[in-house]
Amino acid sequence: MSVEINNIAILTSGGDAPGMNAAIRAVTRTALYHGKKVFGVYRGYEGMIEDDLLELSTAHVKNILAQGGTFLKSARSKEFRTHDGRAKAAANLKKRNIDALVVIGGDGSFTGALKLADEHNIRVIGVPGTIDNDLFGTDYTIGYDTATNTVIESVDKIRDTASSHNRLFLVEVMGRDTGYIAASTGLATGALGIILPEQKITFDDLFRDLRNAQANKKTSNIIMVAEGNHLGDVFDISLAIKKEFPSIDVKVTTLGHTQRGGSPSTNDRVLASVLGYYAIKGLMNGEEKVMVGMINQKVVYIPLSEAISKTTNLDEEMLTIAKILAT
Ligand code: F6P
Repeated sequence: MSVEINNIAILTSGGDAPGMNAAIRAVTRTALYHGKKVFGVYRGYEGMIEDDLLELSTAHVKNILAQGGTFLKSARSKEFRTHDGRAKAAANLKKRNIDALVVIGGDGSFTGALKLADEHNIRVIGVPGTIDNDLFGTDYTIGYDTATNTVIESVDKIRDTASSHNRLFLVEVMGRDTGYIAASTGLATGALGIILPEQKITFDDLFRDLRNAQANKKTSNIIMVAEGNHLGDVFDISLAIKKEFPSIDVKVTTLGHTQRGGSPSTNDRVLASVLGYYAIKGLMNGEEKVMVGMINQKVVYIPLSEAISKTTNLDEEMLTIAKILAT
């Protein structure tokens, strides 16, 4: 079914992710190619409420493909969580006859998009942009590949100094609710342990792994710790280890927001370009309230309600492999 859409708004929302600019460029140029007008919304839903929109030409998106961050800027808007906030935002779209909205972001951004669509009859489509890789309906989210590359580059450097000084490093990575970054980078860097929000590991489990490492004469070790893990704050974990193993020299490195920046990898640029292109194609073919994703190299449209409520389980086998290979 083809649908008449003339004016399209685009925004980035929530935590930024490398490749968001590539997605904005793809959406803008595909829409312009098909004769549509495109309006960039600054600072996510915050800018929509404040009427901070700019009509984009092809020149506005030149030279942004390789840039990290998002030139439209991003925000987490409290006001948009209210009925009044969404009504103000919708009115600003309607006065420009905007028929459709492309939202590049994660689950919080899609929750807002769905509410806007339901309450104000605006066609919305989501493009998965988050370093967390925690959206159902796509194998990878835009930004995850670059973020994990950033992590392994840092951990490889940490490994050098850990090895010179016979130290144990706890490396904290992002992931409030999910541990995809910690799991894949743990495997990729040969970490002794991976501590994730999805697993209820205990200090006894951790101490057993450390004892095994000592028995195997491992003198330096890396443990990847996801932010939202169940054992607690990474500095408290380090204190607990020091208490149990006074002879181990434990250090903590928090990689923090370095994971969110940087020029996007090839994989992220390709994913962002393809999904941005298919976001516009989807809208023109009548798709709405969906997220465009990529599963097994195929473009798919998944209801936004599923993208935010269902979870893709972490690959348990990956964790088993990481454990076996690190012994
Ligand atoms: O959702 C992306 C993310 O990077 C999470 O991994 C992290 O917990 C959070 O954002 C940090 O958000 P902020 O930059 O607002 O502190």
